[in-house]
Amino acid sequence: MPEDVSPPIINKAQALRSALHRHNYQYYVLDDPEISDAEYDRLLQELTRLEEKYPQLQRQDSPTVRVGAQPLDKFDSVAHSIPMLSLDNGFNDDDILEFDKRVRRNLGDPDNIIYTAEPKMDGVAVELIYENGKLVTAATRGDGQTGEVITANAKTIQTVPLVMQLHPSIPVPSRCEIRGEVFIGLDAFKQLNQERIQQEQPPFANPRNAAAGSLRQLDSKITSTRPLEVFFYGVGMVEDTVFETHGALLETLKQWGFRINPLIRSGITIDAVLNYYRELSEKRHQLAYDIDGVVVKVDRVDLQEQLGTTSRSPRWAIAYKFKAIQETTTIKAIEVQVGRTGVLTPVAHLEPVNVGGVRVSRATLHNQDEVEKKDVRIGDHVLVQRAGDVIPEIVKVIVSKRVGRETAFKMPGVCPVCDSKVIRIEGEAATRCINTSCSAQLKERIKHFAAKGAFDIDGLGAKLVEQLVDKELLSSYADIFKLDEAVLSDLDRMGAKSAANLKNAIEKAKSIALGRFLFALGIRQVGEHVAMLLADHFAALDALMDSSRAELEAVDGIGPTVAESIVRFFEQKHNRRIIDQMLASGVKLETAGPKKSGKLNGQVFVLTGKLENFTRSQAKTLIESAGGKVGGSVSGKTNFVVAGDAPGSKLDRARLLGVKIIDEQTLKKMLSHTP
Ligand code: IVH
Repeated sequence: MPEDVSPPIINKAQALRSALHRHNYQYYVLDDPEISDAEYDRLLQELTRLEEKYPQLQRQDSPTVRVGAQPLDKFDSVAHSIPMLSLDNGFNDDDILEFDKRVRRNLGDPDNIIYTAEPKMDGVAVELIYENGKLVTAATRGDGQTGEVITANAKTIQTVPLVMQLHPSIPVPSRCEIRGEVFIGLDAFKQLNQERIQQEQPPFANPRNAAAGSLRQLDSKITSTRPLEVFFYGVGMVEDTVFETHGALLETLKQWGFRINPLIRSGITIDAVLNYYRELSEKRHQLAYDIDGVVVKVDRVDLQEQLGTTSRSPRWAIAYKFKAIQETTTIKAIEVQVGRTGVLTPVAHLEPVNVGGVRVSRATLHNQDEVEKKDVRIGDHVLVQRAGDVIPEIVKVIVSKRVGRETAFKMPGVCPVCDSKVIRIEGEAATRCINTSCSAQLKERIKHFAAKGAFDIDGLGAKLVEQLVDKELLSSYADIFKLDEAVLSDLDRMGAKSAANLKNAIEKAKSIALGRFLFALGIRQVGEHVAMLLADHFAALDALMDSSRAELEAVDGIGPTVAESIVRFFEQKHNRRIIDQMLASGVKLETAGPKKSGKLNGQVFVLTGKLENFTRSQAKTLIESAGGKVGGSVSGKTNFVVAGDAPGSKLDRARLLGVKIIDEQTLKKMLSHTP
């Protein structure tokens, strides 16, 4: 029987709920947090504990519901009260000027029409329905008439308001439908895919697919782990409220708590729209998310109504699309690469082609099934595309250009590097070389070991690793710590100075946090995130090495497959021997110890440019041990951007968002003031 809840506790829960909603709004919509992340987490935890203790207090609109609900068998469908239309497309200035002319003609030829121009987000359209300010239903666009109900999934997105904020003068409508685009940012997408590759799951082709796939999960707990975001750009039916212009509508949405893209420009002429398009086409590659054009909307709502819609799209809006980042080229050869875990990946060598400003000469073909599905042959003309930071890929073969001399590709029966037999496990897409001493695997394992996020050894790049393995100077990653400076300085493209620098970097890297060490080992299924979970839980290497499957599975976030893989790794004597060798060579594991209450508690830093006194990873470790966090990209969450020498675009973004910029000296001072 649940305990009775006294009025003070009910009030406390209510106060926590409103505070959390308000802080969410300050943070995500206004980009102006009033409390630190740590304080926010504390409030959320307090509410979670109360709700756990007194289940009667649980509410559908509680900020704690973002973690996901019971899985569904299937999605329900819902008819949109006003269809969610698509947009007509324009591809050049003339198309847009033509649109403006059409608009004016339909309105009886006024001189000037005022527009709003918005980034066209490349994500998934959603509609959120609020009744008396509470989110009751979220739906996908579906076919435009009927969508799928994805309420539990939408609730896991931090930027979806569960309750609307109060506006100083415009009351919250009894019912309203708010529309926007759900997407995944580029950094988060990259990280998500890295994790998937680590866990041997197929990576998503692009951020839009990742967003769509994440939003359409029957299990909202999965959705809750995906870094989804949303920008709102319009409404369906809104009771009791009239908006004069689209710009005013967006302003009201913002006050009601909906996140609006700050790049939107309202109240501009068609010429200014064309300039905006040009500005944005230049800026688009610096944005933290994918956009595929500019949406141009007639600003006055009464004029929108006069213009009306066709069955497909409104007559008052048009999408001015960016040039597609796709090009055609030919496949010169298909090479098979062997990865760290022995997976064979066919890679197409292309006649180099410029795709959206980047020279592309290779594209992954993923695996044999993919080659067959796309029927890609050597000599084919193909369409290639590059989306964001993703590895270029082949969209399709241009079959009409075949001349008959193209040759089919077949995965080899032996490893192209070590000649050992390859296998393909039933039900898996991957073909693998099972010889663990295959030099290709060894090279990849060592590259991973030395890379950022792992040992982060400055100067030990891919080319050098290959040379060292080929010359048999490295036969495991433990050998890195035994490399001789004199031998290094004799290598191709090395000299006394670079050999000394490398030795130095290796020496520095010896002191490493447990989580990074575990990630560096390259245990299957153990990506950066899992490695950190393990380090936090076990705190010491020995404890982890001797733990059973059951003990591992008891760690929050670790399932049976991961546990199995970890146990198997440490069961192998050979792996234990390599670890012993590393420790004997002076590798020192820094245990995190109890979380310090440092001066930097809850502060989020982003590093840009080259630092003088420490490597990036050292700075990261220092900040983290003082209670701070280090983020990969600048956002509203960032408290400080540390600018070193030759800083990158992160600095511009920091200025744009008004994030405090500090230099290395200031960071040092902040660190030394930490108790
Ligand atoms: S307005 C009736 N504004 O583009 C007006 N749509 O091709 C239609 N989209 O399904 C929506 N960013 O998913 C609008 N700023 C924006 C948008 C946007 C992306 C998407 C939306 C829609 C599709 C139409």
